[in-house]
Amino acid sequence: MRRITLSGEKNSSTIVIGSSIDDIGEFCHTHDIVIITDRKVNAIYGEKFSGLKKVVIEEGEGSKTLKMVRWIYDKLLKSGCERDTFIVGIGGGMVCDVTGFVASTYLRGLPFGLVATTLLAQVDASIGGKNGVNFRGYKNLIGTINQPAFVICDLSSLKTVSKAEIRNGMAELIKHALIGDKGLFEAIVQDKDVILDYNVDHLEPLLYRSLMVKVKIVSKDETERNERRILNFGHTIGHAIEISTGIRHGEAVSIGMVMEARLSVARGLLKEDKLEAIRSILSFFGLPTAIGGIKDKKRIMDAITKDKKREKEDIYSVLLDDIGRAVIERVKIKEINDLIYDIC
Ligand SMILES: NC(=O)c1ccc[n+]([C@@H]2O[C@H](COP(=O)([O-])OP(=O)(O)OC[C@H]3O[C@@H](n4cnc5c(N)ncnc54)[C@H](O)[C@@H]3O)[C@@H](O)[C@H]2O)c1
Ligand SMILES: [Zn+2]
Repeated sequence: MRRITLSGEKNSSTIVIGSSIDDIGEFCHTHDIVIITDRKVNAIYGEKFSGLKKVVIEEGEGSKTLKMVRWIYDKLLKSGCERDTFIVGIGGGMVCDVTGFVASTYLRGLPFGLVATTLLAQVDASIGGKNGVNFRGYKNLIGTINQPAFVICDLSSLKTVSKAEIRNGMAELIKHALIGDKGLFEAIVQDKDVILDYNVDHLEPLLYRSLMVKVKIVSKDETERNERRILNFGHTIGHAIEISTGIRHGEAVSIGMVMEARLSVARGLLKEDKLEAIRSILSFFGLPTAIGGIKDKKRIMDAITKDKKREKEDIYSVLLDDIGRAVIERVKIKEINDLIYDIC
C-alpha cells in the first residue's frame, strides 16, 4: 500500500493506492456515511457496503447532469443528512465527478471521499479536486475544485473492469509519463509485455509514479492558471475527436497525443524517433493513433474551432520538447488544420 498527500489551497487529500472498498470506515471518522455509486458498481460490489445508507444512480455519462444532482440532493434531504455526514463516492470517473460536486455544494460542503474503481478514475478523475457535471452539451461546464479528504485507488476492483476501460486509463497513465516522467515512460516500454496482463502487482508501481506527476502539478497550480494546463496534453485535438466521433475519451486522447507530438516535431521541438516511440507504445496497448476518413477530419476541425481555449486564430496547446517534458505554446488553428489534412 502506498500513500500520497495532495495539498490544495483549502484542504488536502490522502491518496491511498492499494487499499480497498472494505477500508472505507477507517477513513471516514464517523458512522454517518452516505455512499453514492452507480448501478453496475453496486451490482458487483454493493454487498461490501450493504450496511450503509446509499444512493444508486444510473451508470454512464448520461448521469452527469444537474437533474441527477437535484435528485441526489432530494435523497440526502430525505435521509436526514447533516453537516458532518460523510459522503463517499464509489465508482469510475462519472461517480467521482458527481459525488465531488454534490458533496461540495450540499449544505455548503460536506466532508467526502472517493473510492476509484476504474483505471481512468484512479489515474486521473478522482485526483486533483475537479468535479462537476455536463451542461447543454458542454463537458464539465458546471463544477468546483475541492479536494476530497481521501481517495482510495482500489486496484482489486480492476479485475472486473473491461479491457477496453483499462486501455482508456492506460492512455492517461502514459500521458503523465510523457509530460512529466521520462523514467516512467522507459519503464512502461521495458515492461510492456507484463503490463499487458494488467496484473495488479505490476500496475501498482506504475500508477504510483503516474499519480505523482499529476499530484506535483496540482499541488503547485490547483486552479489551472499555469502549470496545470500541461495535463491537457493530447486533449486539444483529443477532445475534438471525442466530441465529433464519440469514441472513448482515452482513445481520443491517444490520437490527440500522437497529433500533438507530431505538431511538436513539425515545430522542431521533438525528435522524430521520440514521436515514433510514443506512437508505438500507444499502439502496443491497443490504443488508436490516427484519425479516420476525411469526413471525420472536417468535423474535428469544426470542434477545434469552437474550443473554449481558443484565442482568435490561435489556440494554446501543450507540446513536448522531449519525452517527459511539456511546454505550452500558442499554435495557429491553420497549423492544426494543415497537420490534420496534409500529414495524416
Ligand atoms: N475530474 C477530473 O479531473 C476528471 C479527469 C478525467 C476524467 N473525468 C471524468 O471521468 C469520467 C470517465 O470516467 P470512467 O472512464 O471511469 O467512466 P465511468 O465512471 O462511466 O465508468 C465506466 C464504466 O465502468 C463501470 N465500472 C466502474 N467501476 C467498475 C468496476 N470496478 N468493475 C466493472 N465495471 C466498473 C461503470 O459502471 C461504467 O459503466 C468522465 O465523466 C470524465 O469527464 C474527470
Ligand atoms: Zn483526459
